[in-house]
Amino acid sequence: MIAEIKSELKNIKTECKEKIALADSSNALYAIKVEFLGKNGKITAQLKNLRNFSEDDKKKVGQIVNEVKESLETEFAKKERVLLDKELDIKLKNERIDITINRPSFVVGKPHPLDALLKKINAFFISNGFKVEETREIETAHYNFDALNTAPDHPAREAQDTFFIEGGLGDILLRSQTSTGQIRFLENNKPPLKLISPGRVYRADEVDATHTPCFHQLEGLVVAKGINMGHLKGTILEFMKFLFDEKTRIRFRPSFFPFTEPSVEVDASCFVCEEGKIDASCKICKGTGYLEIMGAGMVNRKVLENVGIDPDEYSGFAFGMGLDRVTAILHGIGDARLAFEGDIRFLRQF
Ligand code: PHE
Repeated sequence: MIAEIKSELKNIKTECKEKIALADSSNALYAIKVEFLGKNGKITAQLKNLRNFSEDDKKKVGQIVNEVKESLETEFAKKERVLLDKELDIKLKNERIDITINRPSFVVGKPHPLDALLKKINAFFISNGFKVEETREIETAHYNFDALNTAPDHPAREAQDTFFIEGGLGDILLRSQTSTGQIRFLENNKPPLKLISPGRVYRADEVDATHTPCFHQLEGLVVAKGINMGHLKGTILEFMKFLFDEKTRIRFRPSFFPFTEPSVEVDASCFVCEEGKIDASCKICKGTGYLEIMGAGMVNRKVLENVGIDPDEYSGFAFGMGLDRVTAILHGIGDARLAFEGDIRFLRQF
């Protein structure tokens, strides 16, 4: 009887151990544990059987059953630890959050198209002996108007034309043109002199596709003995060829600026349309064959007098160009606002 029980217990133990070895999850292991050690389990059944034995046998068999039970419990505990560790590992792996942002460790920036153009222009003028001088953006009416021969009743002095800081027609304003640089430079330097002065200018314009209250100009100024209109024309022609291409021609239209006399508007031939064959549908020149590029002229005698230079001894020419406009023309940018918005999608295109 006892031998029979012993061999049965051995079988149960072997079966249980095999099942434990095969268990691949803690849940599967718990099911096996129930099957053998649970309330209705195979080992438990053996314990229940004990009551059919004599007192003596009960002790012996009971000891054997308990030994098997304990040894199986140890097996279960061992395997449980292995399976729980494995399951925790998988869980942690799945729940892992990558706290490093997925992007290149550095991004190479690019100059703004306006800056890139200005660098190019500076290089041209520097190589032709010009100085690059930036001057202030907050100015007095004297530098923005009076010294530039712009009389108090000139329409450009209207409050709506620029930003007057001290109300109405006050004295302090945001400069509306880089021509202020002519006066600032002539006051402190003796001719002969050649300079360009790029920078921000301001006008009280509503923002739309072609207007921004802040934009950029480039002023050019040459004052020396014997400077004439030919020098102006030659300089601007070379500059336009440099900016567009070798085939570029220029055209002067009579104009008026208080600080130059005579004054001209300078147009450059369209770099898209072929010479003598103007494309009526050209988006760059709108079918005119020419692009309006700048205002220019011979420095007005009164301006030279205002800064203490003798106009009988010295003469000069000046020009002023809108940098934003030229950037837009060169890149075919249809909306002036884009250059100010700093949208990376726009800037990446250049
Ligand atoms: N300052 C003028 C403007 O803003 C341009 C200009 C500059 C014209 C120099 C002549 C000479 O329109």
